[in-house]
Amino acid sequence: MPKAKSLLLKKIQGAQITQIVYVMARLGIADFINQEERSLDEISEELGLSLLLLQRLFPALESTNLVKRLPNGRYALTDEGLLLRKQEEDSLYHLAMYKSAPFVWRAMEYFCEGLSSGESPFELAHGTHLFDYLENNTEANTLFQDAMSHFERHSSKALIDLYDFSSFKHITDLGGGNGSFLHSVLERYPDLKALNFDLSHVIEKARRIVQHSSIEHREGSFFEQIPGDSDAFLLRNILHDWSDESCLEILKTIYRDSRPDSKLLLIETLISSSPDSKLGRFSNITMFMMTPGGRERSEEDLLDLCAQSGFIHTETIRCSGSKSLLEFTKK
Ligand SMILES: C[S@@+](CC[C@H](N)C(=O)[O-])C[C@H]1O[C@@H](n2cnc3c(N)ncnc32)[C@H](O)[C@@H]1O
Repeated sequence: MPKAKSLLLKKIQGAQITQIVYVMARLGIADFINQEERSLDEISEELGLSLLLLQRLFPALESTNLVKRLPNGRYALTDEGLLLRKQEEDSLYHLAMYKSAPFVWRAMEYFCEGLSSGESPFELAHGTHLFDYLENNTEANTLFQDAMSHFERHSSKALIDLYDFSSFKHITDLGGGNGSFLHSVLERYPDLKALNFDLSHVIEKARRIVQHSSIEHREGSFFEQIPGDSDAFLLRNILHDWSDESCLEILKTIYRDSRPDSKLLLIETLISSSPDSKLGRFSNITMFMMTPGGRERSEEDLLDLCAQSGFIHTETIRCSGSKSLLEFTKK
């Protein structure tokens, strides 16, 4: 078969691969095999799955490079398969569970219609925007928050190594989800006090998940009012969820409510106007599909939004991963 045709065929069938990864995570296959060598009989018995269907699934898992068949006919996980275990340090289990969740797929069904009309695919599918939907769907909210807090754990640590938080006594993470980023910062800076601020349904859960004597969880909306007594305000993966108009509202709330000496720290993927840059190409599509008017932005775009809100840019730190940290002061 000509190369172009076989490459395109793989893309046409890409959804099947995503589903195979999902099935392996969701049915607990990766967790059960773990570091062992397992036979299909053992997997069938332990997980209550049909042996005949496992005999069809496993060759596909092997072709997807998630498991390897050993000479004795048993199966072990490959390096990729190991990353689908829940407890793995750098696990992608939660991302796989979120990306294939039915409420996310439903939004993707409207991608083409959204591109043609300019309307948000998520809103076409669900009649409301992502954060309102999550407020009313506990299971979807859990999948979303778990994916957010696990996905970038590794790159967060790299960023925390690069930026010096030592001049702060108190920091606030606005839209901090379950507070896992603050938890990582406090591992490195144990004398710091922190506030995790998010919507009420998120904070309710965060209080149960991240319990740390130096982290307070507080509910509210950054479109209305923020608790202003902090040395630094973090917005991590927040502005890319919103349109320019909404970003300005958020930034102006922070400017209005914060102390004159406080700093603003943005953590975002920076896209570049260079056609060679690959950063953010796909997450920019995800933002269109899922968020209320969000998009990935260049450094210039973010500097412009912050300048319009009164903030002065002092530093940009580029991490080896996809995220960068931009620091701003008010004077
Ligand atoms: C993409 S997630 C990022 C979470 C976290 N900062 C991270 O980097 O993993 C966006 C977060 O913004 C929160 N959020 C959305 N609207 C908000 C609002 N009006 N006020 C405060 N937080 C909000 C969501 O609940 C969610 O936790």
